Amino acid sequence: MNTVVLGLQWGDEGKGKAIDYLAGRFDVVTRFQGGHNAGHTVYYQGRKVVLHVLPSGIFYPDCLAVIASGVVVQPLQLVEEIRNARELGLTLRNLALSENAPLILPFHQQLDVVFEDSRYQRIGTTRRGIGPAYEDVVGRRALFVGDLLRETVFRGKIAVLAEYYNRLFAAYGHPAMELEDDVRRYLEAGEFLRPHVTDTTRLLQESWRAKKKILFEGAQGSLLDIHLGTYPFVTSSNTTIAGVFSGTGLSPKAVDRVLGISKAYATRVGEGPFPTELKDDFGARLRTLGNEFGATTGRPRRVGWLDLVALRHAVQVNGVDDIFLTKLDVLDDLPEIRVAIAYEVDGERSERRDTFPCHAEALERVTPVYQALPGWQKKLGAIERARDLPKAVRAYLDFIEEFAGARIRYLGVGGERRQTIEIAD
Ligand code: GDP
Ligand code: IMO
Ligand code: MG
Repeated sequence: MNTVVLGLQWGDEGKGKAIDYLAGRFDVVTRFQGGHNAGHTVYYQGRKVVLHVLPSGIFYPDCLAVIASGVVVQPLQLVEEIRNARELGLTLRNLALSENAPLILPFHQQLDVVFEDSRYQRIGTTRRGIGPAYEDVVGRRALFVGDLLRETVFRGKIAVLAEYYNRLFAAYGHPAMELEDDVRRYLEAGEFLRPHVTDTTRLLQESWRAKKKILFEGAQGSLLDIHLGTYPFVTSSNTTIAGVFSGTGLSPKAVDRVLGISKAYATRVGEGPFPTELKDDFGARLRTLGNEFGATTGRPRRVGWLDLVALRHAVQVNGVDDIFLTKLDVLDDLPEIRVAIAYEVDGERSERRDTFPCHAEALERVTPVYQALPGWQKKLGAIERARDLPKAVRAYLDFIEEFAGARIRYLGVGGERRQTIEIAD
């Protein structure tokens, strides 16, 4: 069953672990959006590995790993990531990179920093140039991986773009960018990447027609979607199901199942509304228990209770069939666990209290209404079978399933691949 794995919250739900757990059952794993703003943690031979653009299926040599055309690529970063993976003993002969993936250029990274430091409302981006790179795509100015392979074309295109950007930098009082060194390094990276570069849309189409099993690896989370997330505190791609199709060139017919990943609580990195946020000592304790520090930027993650209003929104917009609920073990010691089941707006439980007002201004005005559920106060990390789970866990899962409208099929009870419990019908 071709399966889309995507985050149902604000990212860092444990997608990397979920994909690594599942990838052995698939022939192809493909990233379809985002860039190296992502940090997907996987354990390989007992070592913690954080992947940024490489799909989390690369640890299976028989699995074709694809970086499809919806992903924005910083070639120097990708080369480094490939080198690091080779040091782990992976050949990466199974890696395909789209010739039509837009490039993240030095201007984009610079602009991300300039914007973050100057705008009236900071987003708290990863400062990797993701937003500006996608802006160039919609602005019809982008350069692509394929351009890197033709030196004259690349030099010509980047020179034109430099004029555009240097005018913009001047407006912000920044000097023009000196590009020659970067251009040379980008072209070298292009040569390094050349053996992997291909038409991934064709490759994926062929894989689909040949009935190969495809796993689609989402980055970020649904609430960071450029159209359906907590705008403007979002990333610049479609992190929801829509991104699969524009980002790979496969049709909805190629998807059999949507698997949404959610933590048993909630986290967010960067700015923006977070109704169930715990800003107190308890929140700090949960951050420590869950080791909630960004895999990409190392920033402390904001933490809070699971927000079922938001979760149901994410289930609905993505058509989620099944949920992979991660980090359940982090709640092991708690006598009571809360979940948000409605919002109050301006002190009243309004008619639309259980719908998710995704734009930030509206969401900032809500106060969550909680339901308290009993904790299990047992260590879950070594449990392997669903039937061995404490009753209180089952009750917690039933409550979430009922509210969110999707089945919980997998539970994460630790960061390692094997610390996963499958729940059959
Ligand atoms: P991603 O961006 O969605 O892939 O998630 P990250 O890798 O950024 O963050 C998830 C973190 O939680 C990583 O440190 C994982 O190793 C860890 N993790 C994933 N699943 C579980 C789980 O079930 N229990 C615990 N304790 N940690 C987990
Ligand atoms: P993974 O794939 C968590 C957040 C940033 C910021 C906003 C915009 O590991 O789940 P950007 O650099 O994308 O323009 O930043 O999005 N953000 C993430 N938060 N996990 C991620 O990826 C994220 N990628 C971006 O913190 O709030
Ligand atoms: Mg992450």
